[in-house]
Amino acid sequence: MEYKYNFDKMTQRRGTSSLKWDDCDGAKYPLWVADMDFETAPAIKKAIEERTSHGIFGYNIIPDEWYESYISWWDRRHNFKMEKDWLVFCTGVVPAISSTVRKLTSPGDNVVILTPVYNIFFNSIINNGCNVCEVPLIYNKSLLEGDNLSIKDSDLVSRDIYKIDYENLEEALSDEKTKLLIFCNPHNPVGRIWSKEELAKVGDLCAKHGVTVLSDEIHCDLTAPDKEYIPFATASETCKNISITAIAPTKTFNIAGMQTAAVSIPNPELRKKIWRALNTDEVAEPNSFAVPVTIAAFNEGEDWLNELRNYIFENKQLVEVFTKKHPSLKLIPSEATYLLWIDVSGTGISGAELEKKLKSETGVYLTAGGEYGRSGENFLRMNIACPKKRLEEALALMDTVL
Ligand SMILES: Cc1ncc(COP(=O)(O)O)c(C=O)c1O
Repeated sequence: MEYKYNFDKMTQRRGTSSLKWDDCDGAKYPLWVADMDFETAPAIKKAIEERTSHGIFGYNIIPDEWYESYISWWDRRHNFKMEKDWLVFCTGVVPAISSTVRKLTSPGDNVVILTPVYNIFFNSIINNGCNVCEVPLIYNKSLLEGDNLSIKDSDLVSRDIYKIDYENLEEALSDEKTKLLIFCNPHNPVGRIWSKEELAKVGDLCAKHGVTVLSDEIHCDLTAPDKEYIPFATASETCKNISITAIAPTKTFNIAGMQTAAVSIPNPELRKKIWRALNTDEVAEPNSFAVPVTIAAFNEGEDWLNELRNYIFENKQLVEVFTKKHPSLKLIPSEATYLLWIDVSGTGISGAELEKKLKSETGVYLTAGGEYGRSGENFLRMNIACPKKRLEEALALMDTVL
């Protein structure tokens, strides 16, 4: 495909206080933390430049345009009509998760997560004195054995590789100490887009046991080019009433350092509580760039995002070709996110050991799957949101070790 935007540009991030590039022991190919090596959309750069040139950076409010940009984006792209009242600004999805845990639980309560899952969920729970209640996803490894499984045409199969264990989930939810489920939709790191039926079932089980759902939907715009995610709150009336949805332009447009996000909470009582929590924790006020970047992203970033999704998909195919050459690696077909989840059990060493080996011998730095829960110990997570040339170089180096 011919690209208008230059995703091939070999951007240099070292020396910019980048977590990914400046906190990786000098690894030459840091393919770990979830941000991208691409410049953000031109409209966002322009919005930042305009705001900068004003030269005054005092306290800020949330203007109507901020609400409208979220509402219009979710309506256009995700078929979800949010109302202005439902939306509350916050400085990040993780701050929103931690505030929610604090508000809806007491120390000693349980918070359920479906693992392997985004590692910071563990921190938000533990830091607030709660118990992490891990419900591992069911992993049907046997489905990966065939040779013809492809990222491109394996929807049905891929949806069977990782599934929700409803029996264990219900057992966890039925414990009277369980107050909250932190759900990841689409799921980091296994790359699943949950179906409407799955979401509704999760909602029914949580409602039955009086458990609130925080649905983290930060990866929702990064689905494969022809695939659409389903917002948790749209799966059923129940899902709508018991949920807090955390959304943001940051993952999609590579602006995580701008610290801007939102929660959408249709239920007015729940919203009041979370509004209070975000304000108590002082994470409800925007810096001078948080609002303009959001408006530019959602109002003018669509074209850039459509190309980005395609570029990411091409990168996934590069990794797929590579893993097919290496039978010791099994790539989990991915419907969403730019993070690939690779079963490395065939190598005979754990994800953590392979991570160390690759890093020390080649400078390619992937994340050990055990970071995302015990069920991830035989996996590596690979961030492929970088110029193709960089990814190809990293794969060639990995080849020498594997
Ligand atoms: C599932 C998930 N939620 C939240 C975040 C981070 O959100 P924020 O930067 O808005 O705190 C990430 C970043 O990788 C993520 O993968």
